[in-house]
Amino acid sequence: MKVRGAVRPPGDKSISHRALMLAALARGTSELSGLLTGDDVKSTARVLRQLGADISTIRDGGTVTVHASRITHPASRLNCGNSGTTARLVLGILAGQRFAATLTGDASLRRRPMRRITEPLRAMGAHIEEEQGDALPLTIRGGRLHALTYTSPVASAQVKSALLFAGLTGNVAVTIREPYRSRDHTERLLMHLGLNLRYENGAISFRPSAVNVPSFHFSVPGDASSAAFLIAAAVLAEGGELLVENVGVNPTRTGVLVVLERMGAHVERVNLRDAGGEPVADLIARPAPAALRGTEITAAEVPTLVDEVPILAVLASRAVGETSFREVGELRVKESNRLELIAANLRAVGVESEARGNDLFVRGTTEPPRGRIETARDHRLAMAFAVLGTTPGADVRLSERSSVSISYPRFFSDLRRIGEGGGGGRDLARHRDRRPRRLRQELDRGGGGAAAGVGTPRLGRVVSGDHAGGAGQPGRTGDGRGREKGEGGGVERAADRRAGGGLTGTPGSRGRCVPTRSRRRGRGRCDPLRPGHPAGLRSRRHP
Ligand code: S3P
Repeated sequence: MKVRGAVRPPGDKSISHRALMLAALARGTSELSGLLTGDDVKSTARVLRQLGADISTIRDGGTVTVHASRITHPASRLNCGNSGTTARLVLGILAGQRFAATLTGDASLRRRPMRRITEPLRAMGAHIEEEQGDALPLTIRGGRLHALTYTSPVASAQVKSALLFAGLTGNVAVTIREPYRSRDHTERLLMHLGLNLRYENGAISFRPSAVNVPSFHFSVPGDASSAAFLIAAAVLAEGGELLVENVGVNPTRTGVLVVLERMGAHVERVNLRDAGGEPVADLIARPAPAALRGTEITAAEVPTLVDEVPILAVLASRAVGETSFREVGELRVKESNRLELIAANLRAVGVESEARGNDLFVRGTTEPPRGRIETARDHRLAMAFAVLGTTPGADVRLSERSSVSISYPRFFSDLRRIGEGGGGGRDLARHRDRRPRRLRQELDRGGGGAAAGVGTPRLGRVVSGDHAGGAGQPGRTGDGRGREKGEGGGVERAADRRAGGGLTGTPGSRGRCVPTRSRRRGRGRCDPLRPGHPAGLRSRRHP
């Protein structure tokens, strides 16, 4: 296939869950745009409604309004559907509530481990009863919690976020260490809302105060994990180029781009900008200029690409030589046993692949893939193997396709459209990266120190060094507040908006920031992105 045109991936799933949850815990009315309309996010909205939040319908292109009120005792069981993030993060929220609630989910979710969350929550003082061992259904009765200092055995953003939510609702301090840094969307949102979260001595330290979470306005960036499927289709294509617009490029999520670079496929990031503390860019992907090369994905990289292992394994099956994925045992307890299913499905289409211990090995081939794929209703397996099916001579049949509604409802129509060149056929020239080559390489590699602050008018803004790199490193330290470079982006506290001051300015076309008058010494709201600018939230306390 040849690719052409532009495509926008759906809203980020992880950020959508968190934005809804924080809006439900806030005081007042929040407005969220760009939310994922997938089933998992609808599960979170359903559960939050059962707990008393008033959430408008989640539909494509619409703004969702969340009127928060006190979290209240649900009348029935909380069904989290297929969504591990819903179940685990809601357990954290419920740990600080003085009533009992029972959580359950679909057959896949009821097989997933929960003690990684319930053990530290018990240590904080929550009472949790199991019906079926280390799994849902679970009944939690929260209440008075104690502060917790916890070293998580797994690098899991769900564990970390559940404990942060428990700290927030129980109004107790939590300090968390993780073996490698996992996605940090919860931390960024909490900091952005002015809450007291810092990075100290390699740990995340959250000290909630008695002050309520302020309501806010937030625009969710596109999902890097969904974008990865489109990018992979472009990398495997026989010609053309594809613009993937409005993608979250938080470095704790973009390991896939780093690995692609090592395999011989460069993805350009242009128009870097900030949305509520989350870096966002447009990505230009093209067919790999030569055969992809096999590579080794290290344990430290895994948290930054944990959901991209299926699509990276598919790319590895078209590469020269072997690719090894180290320490990916966690994939056994995702929506399916992804580790075994990736290997078995690759073998089913004629590729040598094996899961050995916690590692996965894939040997590339030039033979066209042919065979039947068992997706086990796992959305990421369905999408990864659908992309494999776009390679020349392929005959890949999926056991089902409807599971994509979990995270990317329009996936098949988008995949068809970019192949037909129906993605709008926009002129990519205006998105081209005109940064000097050295600067571009440094920023795309995740550097940024000396280069930060240098920009060209085409790019709008250059993201700070913090946005550009450093994920996957254990024990990264620093003051959380000092990291808030993105005040001018997609989060606006509703109170500020009503007051007509404080946060002003709007992102202009092509992500460029158009400064407008602000009460803060007349600065535009993009100022905090300037290197060396002190984080603005320090001076903005709760009303
Ligand atoms: C998620 C964290 C990851 C990821 C999942 C979403 C999140 O899980 O695989 O799809 O939103 O926090 P783990 O935290 O278990 O690694």
